Amino acid sequence: MNIQWYPGHMTKTRRMIAEQIKNVDAVCEILDARIPVSSRNPDVDELTAGKPRLVVLNRVDQADPEATKKWAVYFRAKGCAVLESDAKGGMGTAKFAAAVRELLADKLRSYAERGMAGRVVRVMILGIPNVGKSTFINKVAGRRTAKTEDRPGVTRSKQWVPIDKGLELLDTPGILWPKFEDQSVGLNLAFTGAVKDDILDVETLGCHLMAYLGERYPEALKTGYKLPVLPERKDGENDVAYGYRLLETAGKKRGFLVSGGEVDTERMAKILLDEFRGGKLGRFTLELPE
Ligand code: G4P
Repeated sequence: MNIQWYPGHMTKTRRMIAEQIKNVDAVCEILDARIPVSSRNPDVDELTAGKPRLVVLNRVDQADPEATKKWAVYFRAKGCAVLESDAKGGMGTAKFAAAVRELLADKLRSYAERGMAGRVVRVMILGIPNVGKSTFINKVAGRRTAKTEDRPGVTRSKQWVPIDKGLELLDTPGILWPKFEDQSVGLNLAFTGAVKDDILDVETLGCHLMAYLGERYPEALKTGYKLPVLPERKDGENDVAYGYRLLETAGKKRGFLVSGGEVDTERMAKILLDEFRGGKLGRFTLELPE
């Protein structure tokens, strides 16, 4: 797999976290609810050690609701607060302030006891590109753009975005890079469109996605591609071979044929990826807590 690596991005983010961590009370890590493992950078644990953590499971509108429930339980068991969100539609974002206050309840109580009840709580947002950081910040802050003012002559003094009287966000989210620890991480990021398709040829990508959906969500494939029966996986058949047969079956049904009567599996793979990303096939989660 041809995975691009951007050490410059992580270096910049590491520096930002190191500079700002002392100024924040909590860290909010935004994950893609469809791929909560693949969309997280495990270095965050070390970079933000000791800070209370709010995990936002974003894009829940695109994820399998049952799986999202399991992930919420999983992250809560790890001591994080969890917020389920569809930042685009605005679902869940209104609960952000309450979730942060609950996470910091002990600290806020101790402030109150020491007569510092009005002290402002500050939060840093982190996440990989395209996970929905800007959209989330905009929704939470009730504004139209999260981009910072970069015009000449405008001093960037406004480093903190007010959410309410006692809560502020760091205005620029920390952009993390995913960690391609194994092939499945790269595949998951490519399926969801978080990295460009060119990590693999589109047909192979389509084979892997078909194999996963055929295994975990056969009914969605049957409905989406009007297939009364789905080919079963043969003994020992790998994902690419099984996925290829599924692409052929769906492509044939759609009438994607090339000269000689063969199925245009590449065209079918492109359609599959587009429809998967566009939510036309349903809501899916590509990894589950072990
Ligand atoms: P980033 O700052 O983390 O890089 O991500 P950003 O907010 O720019 O979001 C990337 C894309 O994901 C945007 O779509 C945004 O609308 C979409 N998005 C963010 N959160 C959610 C969510 O919870 N659910 C869904 N379905 N989509 C979400 P876009 O196509 O780039 O822009 P637009 O066409 O939506 O304006």
